[in-house]
Order: sequence, then C-alpha cells, then structure tokens
Amino acid sequence: MKIAFARPGPPEGGAIAVPVLEGPKLGPTAAALDRRTAGALTRVLKASRFEGKIEETLSILAPRGIACSRVVLVGFGKAGALDALAAQRIGGALVVQLAQSGETAAALAVDGFAKTAAPASALAANIALGASLRSYRFDRYRTTEKPEQRPSLKSLTLMVDAPATARKAFAPLASTAQAVEAARDLVSEPANVVTPQAFAATAKGLGDLGIKVEVLGVKKLRDLGLNLMLGVGQGSAHEPQLVVLQWNGARKAGAPVAFVGKGLTFDSGGISIKPAAGMEEMKFDMAGAATVLGVLRALAARKARVNAVGVCALAENMPSGTAQRPGDVVKSMSGQTVEVIDTDAEGRLVLSDALWYTQDRFKPRAMIDLATLTGSIMVALGSEYAGLFANDDKLAAQLVAAGAATGERLWRMPLNESYDELIKSDIADMKNDGGRWGDSINAAVMLKRFVGKTPWAHLDIAGVAWATEDGPIAPKGATGFGVRLLDRYIADCCESR
Ligand code: BES
Ligand code: MN
Ligand code: ZN
Repeated sequence: MKIAFARPGPPEGGAIAVPVLEGPKLGPTAAALDRRTAGALTRVLKASRFEGKIEETLSILAPRGIACSRVVLVGFGKAGALDALAAQRIGGALVVQLAQSGETAAALAVDGFAKTAAPASALAANIALGASLRSYRFDRYRTTEKPEQRPSLKSLTLMVDAPATARKAFAPLASTAQAVEAARDLVSEPANVVTPQAFAATAKGLGDLGIKVEVLGVKKLRDLGLNLMLGVGQGSAHEPQLVVLQWNGARKAGAPVAFVGKGLTFDSGGISIKPAAGMEEMKFDMAGAATVLGVLRALAARKARVNAVGVCALAENMPSGTAQRPGDVVKSMSGQTVEVIDTDAEGRLVLSDALWYTQDRFKPRAMIDLATLTGSIMVALGSEYAGLFANDDKLAAQLVAAGAATGERLWRMPLNESYDELIKSDIADMKNDGGRWGDSINAAVMLKRFVGKTPWAHLDIAGVAWATEDGPIAPKGATGFGVRLLDRYIADCCESR
C-alpha cells in the first residue's frame, strides 16, 4: 500500500473516505459532502444501520454532485476514545472495505475533532499503519490468480491539516510495518523453502541496515557444546544454525538487551511424531525467531539508540535414523543434563541452550525470548494474549505496558518453585516433559534454569503467532506478533535520549 499525506482538498476521483462519529454524527468533511450531494449521506444514514462505531464502514457508489466514484463513511467511534489503537483499526477497516472494490486510490479526510485521545496527525499516522498492516498479502505462490482477483487498492492518501507532522510521525511506524511484514513473510513461507540455512541467508541481508550478522554452524555449535540444540536437529537433513544479530545504536558501549527466538523451521515432533491432521501448521514454529529478526530490523531501520542482540535458534525437528530418541540424555552448554522424555517438547531444549549461550556471551541487561512453545498456552489464553513468564517484576511490568500500548497483549503466568518438582528426572538433572497439566509453566520453569541471574522474560506466542481468522490489522495467517511490542518496549524503556 502506497501511503501519502496531503492537505485537505476537494475530492478528485477515486474513493473519498470521511469520518462519522458514533451516533451517527457526520464529521465536518462528511457534512460538507452531504450538502454538495443534496443530503445523500443523511439519507443513507437513515436507511442503514450504520452507527459510526470503530471498524464500521459504509460505501456509497457515485453520488451525484461530486467527482468521486464513491464515498466511504468511516466509523470513528467516540471522539474521546480515539487513540492510536483505534486509529489503526480504522485504517484496517478502510482497507477491507476497498481492497477488492475495483478502486485503485482512496483518500481519507482525517478531520480534527475536539478532545480526541491523540492529535489528528498522530491519528493519521496510525491509520496509515493499520492500513499498511491489514493490506499484507502473501501471494508469492499464487501463479494462476487473475489480476482482477487481486486487491485493486494501491494507494491511500491521508488528508490532514498538518501533513508534514503526520508524515514525520509515520516514518518510524512505516519501518516497523516493514519489519512486521518481513517477519510475516518468513513465517508464511513453507518449510521446504525456509530451512535453517535459508533463514540464515535472509538474516545476512540485514547487514545492509548496519546490523552485524554471524551464523554459527554445526561445527561451532559442537565446539561450544550446544548439544540440546544439536540433538533436536540431528534427525534432519538441514543442519541447525544459530544466527546472532547485533545492533549497536547506543552512544556508549554497554550491556545490550537480548532477544532470543525459537526457530523450528518445521516441527514434526520427531520420533514422538505428531498426528497428521494439522501438522502442516508446524511450519510456523519459527515465528519466535522471525519476530527477533523483525525487531532487530525495526530497531536498525529507525536507528534506535540502544544496543540490542538477536539470537535465532534454528533447527528442524524430524524423525529419522539419526534422530534423537525418547530417553536420550543430553548435556547442555550450561553443563546441566536433560532427559529427553518427549522429542516433541523440542522448543525448550533448543531455547535452553540458546538462552545460556546468550547470557554467557553478552551479559545482557535484560533477556527476552519468544517461542511458539506450547499448545497448553493456547488452551489457557486462546489467541487474545500471549503468555508472559518472568523472573523480574519490573521487566514484566514494562512488557505488559508495551503490550497494552501496541495491542499485542501479554498475560503474566506463574513461575514459582513448586513447579520444579514436575520436571525432576530419575537419571538426569531434569526432564523435558512435566506432564500434561500446566505444561506452559513446566516449560518456562525449565528455561529459567538456563538464564542465570539475568533479568529475563519468556513470551509463549503459540496462540498469537498465527491467526485462523482475519483480524482488524492482520489478515489471517502469520501475524508478526511481538515486533511492535518489543520495538515499543525498547523505545519506552531502554533507549538513551
Ligand atoms: N511447537 C509446539 C507447540 C505448539 C503446538 C504450538 C500447537 C502451536 C500449536 C511444541 O514444540 C510442542 O510440540 N509442544 C508440545 C509439548 C508436549 C509434547 C510436552 C505440546 O504443546 O503439545
Ligand atoms: Mn514440538
Ligand atoms: Zn515446537
């Protein structure tokens, strides 16, 4: 979607979109159009159930009296509740209304209303963000689709009194949107395309943004002793890779914030193989790593004043003659031993080594991991919240706040010692399966043993990384969850001014 900002002006062809407050009450631009069309908009409101709520839109084709092909009434809700998140949903709803309409260009008049929760320029920038995110489409492999089956809408102009201010507010949001898109692309790609090697090759492209990229292959991982990660990948024809990204944007050298992502490019379950039904979904098991890549990309693109590290732990979990077996005992990089009860609980194995490696090498001031770790978190929280586990209350509160601000919401889960009992092994220091009950917590309790004293948070994103239905600012499929959240956390809590 091409986004532009301009001063308000008379409509010239295409679609003109105008705000209507809840009531419904025509906004100033809508009221002006109503007069020029001999009351067409008023009559339409009378004849419809349109109330002006957020996410409501109503399209009127070619009203007599103006040069436009259509007028779209756009619900702006209650002026007092108009904030950044509402604006993003408005942008998304407008895209849904027009994407397949045949219209190629649209202009939205972002009227200034008194007492909104954000100024008009900020609203315009966030409407643009919502429109960008909602218009995402992964159509690389649709070769027989006809042009008329593709979305027609190519550009959106936001008309505001202060277009330069809005444009400036949109710049960082636009780079965030691109980072979200990059993450969604990686997650959408099938596992025959995005192998650990292919992921690493994509990561190398971030060098152009000034990010330092290292790729650790099997030999190096062996030397370092990341045997839990190697064990998970040993049944696959595609070798595990650990990608290390560094963005040094702070004025001074100093401890970085570290992000660690689970990157199972495919999770078949391994020898503890998953049932066939739905197994194709497990190409998304690298969403944590894709988000880490997206976050580093967003930080570099807006030259965030922070030192940040991103570690993507990439492997493919496959059954084969070389695969790891249930019952295997493996020595982690930390020295702790793990009995592998279930080869399908591979995420916690890979992450344990990656977390240990990260804190050992970088001594981060905070470490946050993201992982599509457990089906159990989906049972607990559905797809509204991601699970948050933390050994540090301040970090947890900062992340919850960033989640509320971006709409990528987190719900804190318990992590106390009483759960330790469940992962006791008869033969090793721990086992990778604590039984069915509270499995998300059992997994987090295991991870906690690999972070030392580092302030640490774990985000279980199994329920939020992939949407089975269209949402307000994401079409169904890969959501890119966490990119906006963590970009915001850095901006609000970690950047030197
Ligand atoms: N990647 C899965 C978790 C998952 C399952 C994410 C379904 C999204 C949808 C993870 O590796 C896994 O298989 N977890 C098992 C753990 C169990 C074997 C202890 C699970 O959640 O069933
Ligand atoms: Mn698994
Ligand atoms: Zn998995």
